[in-house]
Amino acid sequence: MDNSAGGAITQPDTYGRPHLAAVDCRVHELLLRQERQERTTLKLIASENFASSAVLEATGSIFTNKYAEGYPGARYYAGNEIVDELENLAIERLKALFGCEHANVQPYSGSPANQAIYRALLSPGDKMMGLPLPSGGHLTHGWAVNFSGTDYQRIPYGLHEKTQQIDHDRLRETAKRERPKLIWVGGTAYPRIFDYAAMAEIASEVNSYLVADIAHISGLIVAGVHPNPVHHCDVVSSTSHKSIRGPRGGFILSRNEDRYQALYHSKNNHNLAKRIDRAVFPLLQGGPHMNTIAALAVALHEAANPSFRVYGQQIVKNAKALAQALLERGYDLVTGGTDNHMLILDLRDRPLSGKAYAERLSQAGIITNFNMVPGDWRHPALTSGIRLGTPAVTSVGMGEAEMVQIAAFIDLVCRQPDDPDVHACVRRDVADFCAAFDVPGMPDR
Ligand SMILES: Cc1ncc(COP(=O)(O)O)c(C=O)c1O
Repeated sequence: MDNSAGGAITQPDTYGRPHLAAVDCRVHELLLRQERQERTTLKLIASENFASSAVLEATGSIFTNKYAEGYPGARYYAGNEIVDELENLAIERLKALFGCEHANVQPYSGSPANQAIYRALLSPGDKMMGLPLPSGGHLTHGWAVNFSGTDYQRIPYGLHEKTQQIDHDRLRETAKRERPKLIWVGGTAYPRIFDYAAMAEIASEVNSYLVADIAHISGLIVAGVHPNPVHHCDVVSSTSHKSIRGPRGGFILSRNEDRYQALYHSKNNHNLAKRIDRAVFPLLQGGPHMNTIAALAVALHEAANPSFRVYGQQIVKNAKALAQALLERGYDLVTGGTDNHMLILDLRDRPLSGKAYAERLSQAGIITNFNMVPGDWRHPALTSGIRLGTPAVTSVGMGEAEMVQIAAFIDLVCRQPDDPDVHACVRRDVADFCAAFDVPGMPDR
């Protein structure tokens, strides 16, 4: 896959248009500062990645300019013949990669994709089940301050106290008692494999839609290192900018037919695929971002290359190596380790909050995010956890040996959180360490 350093960030674009610097020196200067920061620090945020030069080029292309409200072959604007081909290409590539019947590539991002799924499947006030935020779920899976928590009746399901993994037995009991219409399977801070078959069994027992949110793991699924949910779930949603290395955006995969049409949607003559499409446009969105869809098509083409499987395998190997190195240094990890691309440091018995450690790590050039952990007693704005992910460091070409060194950097900072000299020293070492790796999408130095 493309790990080359040649890119469009500060070079003339495909059409030889002038540098950004000549037009807007303020934005150009900010871009250069961001570029320098990303070159010299360790990007360990589990939801971030480095898109390739080709993906960035398509994102910044003239497809930005085209209005294309509607769907291929049925637009509300003229001049969309080429754009129709482009959107169909992205759809066909998604269907081929995931083996699904229907794909919608228009959601502006992961949260709008999830909102469209609610609108396609439920009515306001209906019951839905999801993993709560402190257990690793996403805001849109029924968190109180999110539309999903205000507009729908949320029934949280929990983790097993000992394993800190989804407790399918208790989930089944709750589902049988509450009879939700929708069950989410997926999360934003869950370091283990989702058992889609077990969840599908429970959903079927209570006539519930099962929706997988694969925002974090779509790249792992394409690479074959996490099971594919499409044959177990009614609908699947994803972002396109995390492990799959595409542009910022979202997509929805689904079956064509609704197995509960007669039960829940008898007055509606649209099938499931059509209801999803109509929920995205015209219910929630206007014109699709065709530049993003172009870049998604490029990312899917890259993900279809056999080298992407190697990349996905390396992400997981790196996460396991980082987890092992941190365990050996005495850190606690949620669930005791990882099966995917992320690990969550459990800092409940440490003196500082997750937020405070994340700030110290950032001063040392180690970019992470603080996160709640199961049983967290600290406020959500402080938390007792730090989430670490390996997609981005794997994209720059790092392997297991580098993960051991990264664990040593993290340990140095966390053992001396109040010593700015240590942070400054680690900051210099991290910059030297990063200098040996080319960052995809950034020009040659
Ligand atoms: C599991 C999950 N779903 C949905 C989203 C929402 O994506 P976005 O931030 O693009 O709206 C995220 C983002 O982190 C996520 O982790």
